[in-house]
Amino acid sequence: MRILIAYLSYSGNTEEVASYIGEFLNKEGVTVEWHRIGIDVLKDPAYYDLVFLGTFTWDRGSTPDEVKDFVLEVGYKPGNMVIFGTGDTQFGGDDLFCRAADKLARFYESSFPVLKVEQSPRGSQENKIEQWLEGVLDNAKSYA
Ligand SMILES: Cc1cc2nc3c(=O)[nH]c(=O)nc-3n(C[C@H](O)[C@H](O)[C@H](O)COP(=O)(O)O)c2cc1C
Repeated sequence: MRILIAYLSYSGNTEEVASYIGEFLNKEGVTVEWHRIGIDVLKDPAYYDLVFLGTFTWDRGSTPDEVKDFVLEVGYKPGNMVIFGTGDTQFGGDDLFCRAADKLARFYESSFPVLKVEQSPRGSQENKIEQWLEGVLDNAKSYA
């Protein structure tokens, strides 16, 4: 299985989730490639079985500009996008929580549930990430 993890992170939370996903997949024997949005040269999503795309949410439910640029640069809607996000319910409650991730999933018509992590994934949310990943991999295998 070929997997790309693309993410944007300013203060490290989304990067932590991305790393957690990468470590989990490595333990499953899957080699992962990385794309730091806004830094690395874009890789073709079509080359991968799955592209994990992670973003935080900004400015009352907004998607960061770098992620919008990434979407434009990709230029089409790959069918293999798996979306995850971090956010903080203190910025507008459940309505705005991880809204950028929700918007991306809707845009890409992702067939996978969106993972939403409140701030840092450390602690009880690690369990949530693992369960989500197991579901994603089961789902992906059923498509393979
Ligand atoms: C100015 C500002 C606005 C934010 N607005 C939202 C928001 O509308 N919804 C949300 O879920 N989180 C919001 N957040 C929280 C961030 O998305 C959250 O801290 C995230 O984990 C940061 O990701 P990073 O550490 O990868 O940069 C906001 C944070 C800041 C500083």
